[in-house]
Amino acid sequence: MDKQPDEVAGMFDDVAPHYDRTNTVLSMGNAILWRAATVRAVDPLGGERILDVAAGTGTSSVALSKHGARVVAVDFSPGMVAEGRKRHPNIEFIEADAERLPFGDNEFDAVTISFGLRNIHNPHAALAEMYRVLKPGGRLVICEFSKPPVALLRAGYWAYLSVVMPAVASVTGSNSSAYEYLAESIREWPDQGQLSQWIRGAGFTRVAYRNLTAGVVALHRGRKPIDATVLASVAKRKGNATRPIKTQQAAPPAESPKP
Ligand SMILES: C[S@@+](CC[C@H](N)C(=O)[O-])C[C@H]1O[C@@H](n2cnc3c(N)ncnc32)[C@H](O)[C@@H]1O
Repeated sequence: MDKQPDEVAGMFDDVAPHYDRTNTVLSMGNAILWRAATVRAVDPLGGERILDVAAGTGTSSVALSKHGARVVAVDFSPGMVAEGRKRHPNIEFIEADAERLPFGDNEFDAVTISFGLRNIHNPHAALAEMYRVLKPGGRLVICEFSKPPVALLRAGYWAYLSVVMPAVASVTGSNSSAYEYLAESIREWPDQGQLSQWIRGAGFTRVAYRNLTAGVVALHRGRKPIDATVLASVAKRKGNATRPIKTQQAAPPAESPKP
């Protein structure tokens, strides 16, 4: 499945008004636990500047700001950003693409993304941008759907995603085709180990993950290195590696029908 940015932005524009309610129902209340675990992993401190990428309506951002951090919420869907500004006037929302963040190098103490990386056309480019805008020593936290490692649970989960979820979504007033896209994007998303490799490939160190709800969701963490020699070697390696990574992700699909 390929994700064309315009189609993804349009789809989120459509679901924006019902987005949070549908998530709470579909996650059977687990979304609240996943968000709390994400905030603990980010560990926001008063006065820190924290970037929430693909922040949507700001539900992920508002929990971070409660600890006194200055949170910047970025999303490229005008509908999600408008809904977020309405709900959370104290959060700074910026409409921008995660693959081209409108910030300088080394600006943020922590960067986080919840349920967003999977939707981004080129997740490698987004990881590279998150690395760039983080200060040396800064924290990365990624909360994303993943793959339950136990086969039986995984089979039940796939059935839930493809049959139950679109049906529940239509009852709660959401566009059910958007939730069919969600199911497909989760199935095609890399597992915990592969995502860890992607994060390391972007230059992060101390990469680790922990499963939530038996691996339905995984919380990945990493750090931008502090050591100047390590930073320089990452920069050199990325200079050499940029082209192959982009080629791999940008290959045009034969067909890309999207809800
Ligand atoms: C499932 S929502 C998650 C929203 C929020 N982080 C949360 O946890 O509720 C995914 C968001 O990713 C955004 N998104 C997808 N691709 C993006 C990109 N390239 N740049 C910025 N935002 C993007 C969509 O607009 C959507 O709001």
